Amino acid sequence: MISKLTKSSVKASIADALEECRHQTLTIFAGMDAATFCNQPHPDFSPVGWHLGHIAYIESLWVLEHIAGLPCLFPQYHKLYAADGLPKSQRVYLPQLEETLDYLEKIRNQVWQFLADADIEPQQRLWRFLIQHESQHCEIIRMVLQLGKIQQSQLFNQQFTVSSQQLGVTEMIEIAAGEFELGSNSIDALDNERPAHQVYLDTYWIDRYPVTCGQYRLFIEAGGYENPQWWSVAGWQWLQNEQGKQPLYWQTAASLDHHPVYGVSWYEAEAYSRFVGKRLPTEAEWEKAASWDAQANCRRTYPWGEEMPSSKYCNCDGLGGDRLYSDNIAQTTPVNAYPMGQSAYGLYDTLGNVWEWTGSWFAGYAGFESFPYTGYSQTYFDNQHRVLKGGSWASRPWVLRASFRNWYHPGVRQIFAGFRCAANAE
Ligand code: AVJ
Ligand code: FE
Repeated sequence: MISKLTKSSVKASIADALEECRHQTLTIFAGMDAATFCNQPHPDFSPVGWHLGHIAYIESLWVLEHIAGLPCLFPQYHKLYAADGLPKSQRVYLPQLEETLDYLEKIRNQVWQFLADADIEPQQRLWRFLIQHESQHCEIIRMVLQLGKIQQSQLFNQQFTVSSQQLGVTEMIEIAAGEFELGSNSIDALDNERPAHQVYLDTYWIDRYPVTCGQYRLFIEAGGYENPQWWSVAGWQWLQNEQGKQPLYWQTAASLDHHPVYGVSWYEAEAYSRFVGKRLPTEAEWEKAASWDAQANCRRTYPWGEEMPSSKYCNCDGLGGDRLYSDNIAQTTPVNAYPMGQSAYGLYDTLGNVWEWTGSWFAGYAGFESFPYTGYSQTYFDNQHRVLKGGSWASRPWVLRASFRNWYHPGVRQIFAGFRCAANAE
């Protein structure tokens, strides 16, 4: 198929990405049983089988209907797979895996047919959106699978082991005052990353590494979850409802001491930061430290430069780590495992491993324009969602870049999110 498309390198690169992205998506579903396919371990997240069908639905909607102007091939799926179709609780009555795969394949075959003759340059942004859309649902699929495992307690059953090991990961880096470029105008940039603009920041300090399990354990052992002193009013209220005593994905093996803590809500990140006398970085502080090259006076697409993310630079796409990716459960890696992935300022692990909560509300940059629809980003500019940066071990390479912005309610702890801390100068 790709040989037909070589007349345009843009087309070839998009076709490659579509295929590569899909290949990994399908790998996750290979041999999956019906119970797993339809399981809904948490009411806020749809079953993995729904996400799979929704990927085909969105591809059909945007490529076949909007770009190619074709009639909807499978109108019977509209209500089920549209983002605003059914309440999540009703998304457990799903076509089987085989039928869903057939849906994906039929849509994709039409997409190839269209792509063969289309002039896609004018719609390049939409194609790139599509690849990132599938990428994001793929990560949610990995998350729902992990939640399902916890439910069956097949995971995280290690015994508590106290470690007195000294951790060398408390280092902070000083980021000198000055301007940098926030956001991106690249063809891949989604609506909420645009437009790129200059921002001035005063001098600040930021952790070189994400907060580790070993560090976070000290907070738990010091009674952090019982002491309102570390929590904001909203955070303490959240904790009373949640009745949590530790992060959702808490693992207590001492061998994980150097892994980033994850499965924390924004409120837990906020409380820990206060406990250690620090605070969360703003998203601008995070992005500058991850992407700005002060010497060259320019931004990098990735912390390490311009090469696409891979296991050379970070723990991403379920490929990383000293633990095998098995049964669709990959894992975190020690925060110092990828020296090649350092930013110009020397931060480790900014992309991949775990998402990082920032102190910022999700909002549009000045001059924001919705693309491809207001419900993608703009609906969430409501001072109810906090920005996350960096991606996790489950993130696909197409959404890993310094300017990418993710967002969730501050009380969500099912996503693969940790954090690092920052502090004011002096
Ligand atoms: C950016 C991950 C919060 O899952 O709701 C997928 C991504 N938007 N389909 C979400 C998304 C539409 C979005 N997040
Ligand atoms: Fe979607």
